[in-house]
Amino acid sequence: MKAVFYQQHGPAEVLQVGELDMPEPGPDQVLVQVGATSVNPIDRRLRAGELTEYISRTFPVVPGWDMAGRIVKLGENVTDWQVGDDILGLAFTWSIQHGSYAEYAPIDVTAITRKPAHLSFDEASALPLVSLTAWQALIEFGELKAGQSILIQAGSGGVGSIAIAIAKHIGAKVYTTTRQANFEYAKSLGADVLIDYTVEDYREVIRSHEPDGVDLVLECLLGEDVAEDAIRLAKDGGAVAYMNNEPPEMAEISQRHIKAEFLHHRADGAMLTELLSLFEQGVLQLPEIKVMHLEDAVQAHHQSEAGRTRGKVVLHVQDI
Ligand SMILES: NC(=O)c1ccc[n+]([C@@H]2O[C@H](COP(=O)([O-])OP(=O)(O)OC[C@H]3O[C@@H](n4cnc5c(N)ncnc54)[C@H](OP(=O)(O)O)[C@@H]3O)[C@@H](O)[C@H]2O)c1
Repeated sequence: MKAVFYQQHGPAEVLQVGELDMPEPGPDQVLVQVGATSVNPIDRRLRAGELTEYISRTFPVVPGWDMAGRIVKLGENVTDWQVGDDILGLAFTWSIQHGSYAEYAPIDVTAITRKPAHLSFDEASALPLVSLTAWQALIEFGELKAGQSILIQAGSGGVGSIAIAIAKHIGAKVYTTTRQANFEYAKSLGADVLIDYTVEDYREVIRSHEPDGVDLVLECLLGEDVAEDAIRLAKDGGAVAYMNNEPPEMAEISQRHIKAEFLHHRADGAMLTELLSLFEQGVLQLPEIKVMHLEDAVQAHHQSEAGRTRGKVVLHVQDI
């Protein structure tokens, strides 16, 4: 089968397009003919050699966790799915080898849901990782409620796009940081207050609107003082969801009863089913997608590294 893979860690150029043997599904997995996959920052971080203490590799590694495609083979314990079913899912594993930048990839049945007919494979592949991440951060961890306020950093990125849509659906007031070029996009998703972080100090804008702080901060950024400022911008009893790092050591976290955690997305087919019904009903807006081809993986990783992705970059693998 055709696949994108790397034999060693390194820059985007270690990604090669070539032929690999078809993987076999494990007992509780299905093998999927992949129509499309999407690019997440974690793909390039793993490729670069980060997080080896948490996630092991077996080379050659095919990157990619998001997928949308058609089931072509069932593992021996699988009874609820059939060959020919169209699915999407998050093929997260702590040990990477057979990812979704390939014509065929295995995935746990607990991590998939049925693809609605009106969603293309390209559109569907953009959803699993970012929508599960955003839902788990805002609803499970943050317990965001109608009338509350949230700061969503990097609102025009993959996680931010869905987070804005979810927060709006809940009825929260959404503050988000993005460059002016993406204001219309973030507004269309439901953001209330847009902050161009290149010309304004987002901390001052938040303080001027919310002197007591916001109920929840979705901290998607890294940088000097960013983690500390997230705590300072949360109100007493509020919460900060960190996407990239552990919370800073600050006495005020416990003094002001702030709930702060480094969150890691969890693959969850049942949750994905609920999210898909919200996308299907039009309650949640789909993120904008830029479709590239599997063979463009090097360029796609460069684009992700540049940090300017609006919505999601999708790699179209094959027509199904
Ligand atoms: N812990 C987890 O489970 C988990 C899961 C998913 C993602 N993450 C992490 O969460 C972060 C976001 O992921 P993603 O998929 O949304 O990334 P992404 O799609 O690559 O994010 C790109 C966006 O970031 C925005 N951006 C860049 N610098 C910014 C800044 N200084 N202030 C505000 N916005 C800025 C850009 O908007 P502009 O062009 O307008 O600046 C662009 O739209 C990443 O660091 C990723 O590693 C963690």
